[in-house]
Amino acid sequence: MKKWFGVIGDPISHSLSPFMHDQWFRENHLDATYLPIRVSTERLGTAVESLRLLGASGWNVTIPHKTSIIPFLDGLDPMASKMGAVNTVVRNEKDELIGYNTDGLGFVRSLEEEIGLNEKQSSILVIGAGGAARGIVHALSESGYEHITIANRTIEKASLLIDEIGRGEALSLQEAEIRLSQFHIIIQTTSAGMKTDQAKLPLSMERMRSDCIAADIVYNPLETPFLKIASEKGGRTISGIGMFVHQGAIAFNYWTGIEPDTLSMKQKVTEHLGGKYVNR
Ligand code: ATR
Repeated sequence: MKKWFGVIGDPISHSLSPFMHDQWFRENHLDATYLPIRVSTERLGTAVESLRLLGASGWNVTIPHKTSIIPFLDGLDPMASKMGAVNTVVRNEKDELIGYNTDGLGFVRSLEEEIGLNEKQSSILVIGAGGAARGIVHALSESGYEHITIANRTIEKASLLIDEIGRGEALSLQEAEIRLSQFHIIIQTTSAGMKTDQAKLPLSMERMRSDCIAADIVYNPLETPFLKIASEKGGRTISGIGMFVHQGAIAFNYWTGIEPDTLSMKQKVTEHLGGKYVNR
């Protein structure tokens, strides 16, 4: 019987997940489809029950439901539980709905595709301490990265996250600005970094080192103001495309047991967004 999957969120029309997963289903000769489903906050519980009733085999969860969906599920994977957020739901063989979080690991896989697996001693600065940063920081820590610093407008949130992983340092944005040259990898996760106005960047990039690796979690636009400045200063940049494709690939694997082709998908998504793919 044909299986079906989807993504729930609000708004949802911009999501590239249907484009990506439908392609992977075709490539892997699976009789399945993937739908974008707009679900408002008030109707989240009803939506989950409907998905259960109508036999969805699994789905992705995006803004604004990543945390609020948790009480409607039957169980959580330990990583999702630690992060307090779910981006993937799997219906298991017992017909239970289990929540996973593949965002953070998706980011780490994307980073490691670019920098290799031997940079665990690099000094990393994560800008932001919101939902996206939480996933990334926990996944970096679990993957063995030793030197993690978090800078956030509200420093208390950065300190809390540092306490959770049990290592590293929390800074204000001003402190991070002054100490920017000490970091080899800078990861921008704030919503301020999404704006097209460079003046609205969360911090000045003046002191960024020229051999720095700058990564953004945003993939549309492909070159965010943060990445543009980093590239002008000689840094190597990583767009959010890799994270998007890898979080999807891990979810696809949970649903089907198959590891889909991420390399050609990064190219397809980049071209779909009007960009030119450079394979390094
Ligand atoms: P998400 O789940 O996408 O990470 P979020 O949880 O609302 O979204 O977090 C947004 C992040 O962007 C936070 O780190 C936030 O800083 P605060 O914790 O101080 O709110 C950061 N952010 C949002 N607007 C910002 C701005 N204008 N300048 C600096 N940081 C900003």
